[in-house]
Amino acid sequence: MEKRCENMWISSLAKRTERIGSSIIRELLKVSQYPDVISFGGGWPAPEFFPKREIEEACEYLIPRKGELMLQYGLSEGITELKEFLSKKMCKYGVPAESENILLTCGSQQALDLIGKVFINEGDKILVSEPTYLGALQAWKLYGPEFATCKMDDNGVLIEDVEKALEKGPVKFMYMLPNFHNPTGVTILLERRKKLVELADKYDTFIVEDDPYGELRYEGKDITPLIVLSKERVIYLSTFSKTLAPGLRLGWMVAPKLTLSKIVQAKQGADLHTGTFIQYIANDICQRGILKAHVEKLRKLYRERRDVMLDSLEKYFPKEAKWTHPHGGLFLWVTLPEGMDIEKIFGKAKERKVAFVPGFAFYPYEGGNNSMRLNFSNTPPEKTREGIKRLGELLKEEL
Ligand SMILES: Cc1ncc(COP(=O)(O)O)c(C=O)c1O
Repeated sequence: MEKRCENMWISSLAKRTERIGSSIIRELLKVSQYPDVISFGGGWPAPEFFPKREIEEACEYLIPRKGELMLQYGLSEGITELKEFLSKKMCKYGVPAESENILLTCGSQQALDLIGKVFINEGDKILVSEPTYLGALQAWKLYGPEFATCKMDDNGVLIEDVEKALEKGPVKFMYMLPNFHNPTGVTILLERRKKLVELADKYDTFIVEDDPYGELRYEGKDITPLIVLSKERVIYLSTFSKTLAPGLRLGWMVAPKLTLSKIVQAKQGADLHTGTFIQYIANDICQRGILKAHVEKLRKLYRERRDVMLDSLEKYFPKEAKWTHPHGGLFLWVTLPEGMDIEKIFGKAKERKVAFVPGFAFYPYEGGNNSMRLNFSNTPPEKTREGIKRLGELLKEEL
């Protein structure tokens, strides 16, 4: 591009864009797309399990009958049929969601962005775990918050850390991933969940409960969601990305009515509404009982993939490495001895055609330099064994 033009573009950028950089995930996705790379990087579901035939059937059935509605503008809140389905489904699990409390969003990612838009003033404090979901950090950084942090162990966030952060001054909200946390795979114990809502009440704040993975449980029993423990102080998010397909770009938010109406106004400015077409398709899949059956199938398949990864780690990784044992979801988290440089290891792994996400990507400031996130859903067993073997050999050399 001509230099003068380039300068014009750069100087035209809004000041707030300085707060966002290129995400390591995007770089990674580039590497992951080379066909000969075994990638444990993205949070991708297994494409071979997408319900393609069922989606095709839904299109064939719906387009002649509802084509005019599906291709027309729709309500910003989303189509009533799907909201009602979600309301019933969630009520069954104890989540107090009426249709009027639900907003259909363009993936959970949009919900995170809308929360940023509606709640975050520059300098506001947001409490996140260390590590936390990278996409939330990316969505919110643009609005200029400060991140207060709490550490985690194998049973979720450390409550003492949460309280310490809350004591230091007002926190606008806490961001929690109670089930099979991204990136660690860890689940928050019921006792700690109870403490979190008590703390939200004590310090007069609220919680964003992000739950994309809750349905993908491979062992143990479901644990009461935060929103069930406190309907008034929780905004709950979930998505069809992991249970059906992320390409649908369809998620939902449950919030108190008053709050939701503000968020709906923000959504109108962003995209008027979530695509009507995909909402009808998803609704058909849900109403025909396909979602339920599909989730059952995924649980079995992903459990196998998790187990293959855990076995391979045991077999090939150095004994100095530690990793989490997730009861569900798509990820596990590996911690290497202090002082190991994950960025260097990432570069060398690329040469050996294996990829992961370096831990530091999930920290708002510093940290994670000796850790990595591994995804187990997207790689078939044979490739997982081979990829973990390559990584294990590399780590042993680096030690
Ligand atoms: C914790 C968490 N929240 C939100 C999202 C975004 O999901 P969606 O595809 O629904 O936008 C993801 C995606 O990986 C996630 O892991």
